[in-house]
Amino acid sequence: MKRLLVLLPLLLGANEDFISHYEYGEMLYNNPRGVSCSQCHGKDGAGTTIVEFRDIHGKQAIKGSDIRKDSLQAMIKSVSNYHEIMPRYYLTDEEVKAIYDYLQKKNENYLETSKENNSSK
Ligand code: HEC
Repeated sequence: MKRLLVLLPLLLGANEDFISHYEYGEMLYNNPRGVSCSQCHGKDGAGTTIVEFRDIHGKQAIKGSDIRKDSLQAMIKSVSNYHEIMPRYYLTDEEVKAIYDYLQKKNENYLETSKENNSSK
């Protein structure tokens, strides 16, 4: 019995189903409740073309916007509001924060360089 107790932490450790905050955000960004943000905002939040079509004005495209520089507050607000195109999500603030942190981390370099560009203006 004593031996089992010694082994217990090891067994628990091996069985740990822990994913990092980053991975959690990545998972949410790519598959939140079945409608993935990445389908419209691109792999990394830079935006992508959702659909292209032709009407009397010629070729048209509907695009998901670049959300890399959006604040957490803007993201929380946007995700839980109605839009013309974007669906409304029922994500908790923590879930949106995980998505936000994921995008911040993934775009670290981009955000760093655009900060430098802005400050030199
Ligand atoms: C079906 C396509 C689609 C999906 C899926 C989608 N979006 Fe959007 N999103 C848009 C479009 C298009 C806009 C511009 C506003 C509008 O017309 O709906 C937008 C606007 C936004 C904005 C507003 C700020 C800005 O800079 O335009 C944020 C933030 C945002 N989306 C985040 C997300 C996140 C996070 C998810 C996933 C939980 C998501 N979106 C899923 C299409 C989408």
